[in-house]
Amino acid sequence: MTQATTEPGAERRPATRRTVLGGLAVAVCGCGTAQWAPARAEDGEDAAAGPDALPPQIGDRFTYIYGEKMGDVIRPEDLPLGGDQKLVYPMDPTTGTIRDGSRLNMMLLVRLDPDTLDEETRAAAAEGVVAYSAVCTHHGCPVSMWSKRAGTLYCSCHGTEYDPKATARVVAGPAPRRLPMMPVGIEDGEIVVAGQFTSWVGSQNT
Ligand code: FES
Repeated sequence: MTQATTEPGAERRPATRRTVLGGLAVAVCGCGTAQWAPARAEDGEDAAAGPDALPPQIGDRFTYIYGEKMGDVIRPEDLPLGGDQKLVYPMDPTTGTIRDGSRLNMMLLVRLDPDTLDEETRAAAAEGVVAYSAVCTHHGCPVSMWSKRAGTLYCSCHGTEYDPKATARVVAGPAPRRLPMMPVGIEDGEIVVAGQFTSWVGSQNT
């Protein structure tokens, strides 16, 4: 198998943090069991969290998780057609707040030929761009690698592969379920959040 590491800094965040989300304190780490549901700012308790720890909000843009381009808004043409994926955080376009206060907000974007997407994935995509949680559903590692051979999203911790053309269903490895998908749109040429995650974000054990 040929894999290309796409985001080598993905594990640079603190090994363990505690974050209060929706009134629930959860431990989040690179290989843990954190999990939370998609929610909106107006859902009450989540609004008490800082804006950087809120889950993605409709209308949010996306920016890179590290490096010189962190803070830049991502457009479809910034993503290589056919992969690999880029690890990103949502960002409030009004304030510029990057929602990196929760590791569970780590997402990935990949741009594919729309004709290769299955019907459900195409409905959530925009100009071939699809967005998923980047938190592996097995034990929470970042899904940061790309299999050129198979065209799959690859988690290097235990070898799970997800098919980005088919709602990130599991095609190999131990993960128990697909990655949550996020509907996206295009506004002013920029990729925007257009809905909520299709399922719980995080790993299997909570
Ligand atoms: S944490 Fe991803 S395969 Fe185990």
